[in-house]
Amino acid sequence: MTDVRRVLVTGGAGYIGSHTCKHLAENSIECIVYDNLSTGHQHNVKWGPLVIGDINDSKCLEETFTRYKPDAVIHFAALAYVGESVTHPAEYYTNNVAGTLNILSEMAKASINKFVFSSTCATYGMPQKLPICETTPQHPINPYGASKLMVERVLQDYAHAYGLRYAALRYFNACGADPAGELAEEHYPETHLIPRCLMAAAGKIPGVDVYGDDYPTPDGTCIRDYIHVSDLAIGHVSALKSIVDKNINLRLNLGTGKGTSVLEILKGIKRSIDRDVPHSIQRGREGDPHTLFADVSAARDTIGFVTKFSDLDTII
Ligand SMILES: NC(=O)c1ccc[n+]([C@@H]2O[C@H](COP(=O)([O-])OP(=O)(O)OC[C@H]3O[C@@H](n4cnc5c(N)ncnc54)[C@H](O)[C@@H]3O)[C@@H](O)[C@H]2O)c1
Repeated sequence: MTDVRRVLVTGGAGYIGSHTCKHLAENSIECIVYDNLSTGHQHNVKWGPLVIGDINDSKCLEETFTRYKPDAVIHFAALAYVGESVTHPAEYYTNNVAGTLNILSEMAKASINKFVFSSTCATYGMPQKLPICETTPQHPINPYGASKLMVERVLQDYAHAYGLRYAALRYFNACGADPAGELAEEHYPETHLIPRCLMAAAGKIPGVDVYGDDYPTPDGTCIRDYIHVSDLAIGHVSALKSIVDKNINLRLNLGTGKGTSVLEILKGIKRSIDRDVPHSIQRGREGDPHTLFADVSAARDTIGFVTKFSDLDTII
């Protein structure tokens, strides 16, 4: 990737952003983290300078672009709690949509036209067919998913009108942590299933709720596509390389193509660390699709994406 040496990483103090910074550094790409530390952590910023700033702060963004002159932006900064997006949609649209428009406008002023965006499988809503491929209709069922789909549409229109080069990466369930132990998943509150199960197994929380055990799945519990965060990090660098080298725009699923049920995770934890996960079965949540997993052939074929860390034992 000859003409990308320095990248501005918004949300680089967060979970997926920090893992991606590590992988950028391993590929000799400098990263400047731009983060308001609302959910991220200063101690995650180890591979370049940190600018403490908000994506809605045009002046701070402008100064940062002028000072560091990045060649591209990888944009992770967002609010990402589905339930909270239902009760506080204004915050989600302001942060996730208006904030992104602000970055794009400051990028245009600074003549930067390469952009990698954190989208999500939540843009698909309740898909009618599995596996989910990139042409599956996108009908998000909550403001979080809607905010990400709005940005995807903006990117498509900006690419057409202004020559923006972008990759919108629709992640499935991010999980795991840096195999070298330099980074972890650290959300407060933690809502993701695997860290909650591990917290329960370690006695840090009383137990986990399993929502539904009578779905039409082999063991009755919900199935999701769990992808290791280090694989996501690799996917970002590969996508950036592809949009630059091939001068194309990308909309890609990043998952494993394999579904894992909640009970399989509990069994995997027992197998890996010989601990039981205290849990109680609750009624299934309204609007929760029982099965989601990705078709990942497009990512494989266009950016050579192959997962290396996403088997359940490594994740745990
Ligand atoms: N974790 C998942 O399973 C998952 C799945 C699909 C998509 N995503 C998307 O991936 C991205 C990263 O998710 P994550 O799990 O690493 O979340 P995270 O909360 O760990 O990271 C988000 C980072 O963005 C920062 N941030 C938030 N709003 C900001 C603002 N206005 N200005 C500057 N910085 C701001 C936070 O401080 C944090 O460091 C998000 O866009 C999320 O929507 C995550």
